[in-house]
Amino acid sequence: MKKSSKTKSWGDATLAIHTGEEKFRVGAPVGTSIARTSNFTFASTEEMKRWAEGKSSAYIYSRYGNPTLAIAEKKIAALEGAEDAVVTASGTAAISSALLSQLRAGEEVIATRQLYGGSYRLFRDVLPRLGIVVRHVETDLAGIERLVGPRTKVLYIETPTNPTLRLVDLKKAVAFAQEWGLVSLIDNTFASPVLQKPLSMGFNIVLHSASKYLAGHSDVIAGAAAGNSVLIEQVRAMVIQIGGSMDPEAAFLLIRGMKTLGVRIERQCKNAMLVAKFLEKHPKVASVHYPGLPSHPDYALAKRQMRGFGAMMAFDLKGGLGAARRFCDRVRVFLLAASLGGVESLVVLPIYTSHYKMSTAELRAAGVGPGTVRVSVGLEDPEDLIEDLRQALG
Ligand SMILES: Cc1ncc(COP(=O)(O)O)c(C=O)c1O
Repeated sequence: MKKSSKTKSWGDATLAIHTGEEKFRVGAPVGTSIARTSNFTFASTEEMKRWAEGKSSAYIYSRYGNPTLAIAEKKIAALEGAEDAVVTASGTAAISSALLSQLRAGEEVIATRQLYGGSYRLFRDVLPRLGIVVRHVETDLAGIERLVGPRTKVLYIETPTNPTLRLVDLKKAVAFAQEWGLVSLIDNTFASPVLQKPLSMGFNIVLHSASKYLAGHSDVIAGAAAGNSVLIEQVRAMVIQIGGSMDPEAAFLLIRGMKTLGVRIERQCKNAMLVAKFLEKHPKVASVHYPGLPSHPDYALAKRQMRGFGAMMAFDLKGGLGAARRFCDRVRVFLLAASLGGVESLVVLPIYTSHYKMSTAELRAAGVGPGTVRVSVGLEDPEDLIEDLRQALG
């Protein structure tokens, strides 16, 4: 790209729009083209031989790589300040491929206990079957030094957590991982790279459910991992081997979504603050979990390590599960739906969605009450959101 020398000083919005797309010639399409193909031609068997010998980076088959995927990867790498990134068929594919690329049977991983339910179940149900030992630590990392040993290879955290919005101290986590020579992985889905850039603080691999804020329109399942080239090559090799590659159509939707990431996050954060303040004052609400409220236990940490407080929150109603169900059944602007990070505001009961198949003890440990409502604040007019909450709680 002719103007690539400028990219280093570009801000996030410019990076998301322009990185990875070569437009500086006559007749280039401004919109992103989809390489809607499973495979690619070679001009000669000599070229194929070079590919097989690892001497050529030519595209061969879209599970291994594809020009549209490469555009998405460059944008995510630029936003995260990474040397490289790999996009995947889902956030879960990115998480599992990253973990499997770094862990072998007999080795150990320390992971925070408060995680997206699907990630928690991966640690609980899948990794132990492969002979990988999982040890959980609370989000404050208390006592983590008692969990580490010679076989510990990976530290895995998620911050802010789904759905309770607790934060992990990034500096503390990195210092610990570096002291013990662990590869540090972080799920950055809730913050997005606009609000938090963990690689710049020393994390090794950043993971995303790109189905959420990065794509932003509730129309695609996608994932990504970003980090230095060596680690991302290892993750990419695992993605190729276990088959979690992204489809080019999904890459197009992700790219199109990312072009508005900056303004979406900015406005969603503003809307979320208004929603959180309204909920906190409502007489039927017992507690609101939003890191932007001074009442939140991690408010000071959020101010220190995030550029904004995000658009996710959870709250508990005084009437417990019954009141929470009644509220969720009455919303008319908010939609009752799983997932998050899209333009539409959503409410959900984690016990029926992200945190299903978890015991009462596991839910308690994750901070999820039976009546906890998770809210993803979207881009509607804030007055309409507040009015909807008022009528649904009424
Ligand atoms: C924080 C977080 N990480 C990972 C995932 C999994 O992503 P995907 O559904 O794209 O596989 C989710 C999905 O809800 C999530 O909320």
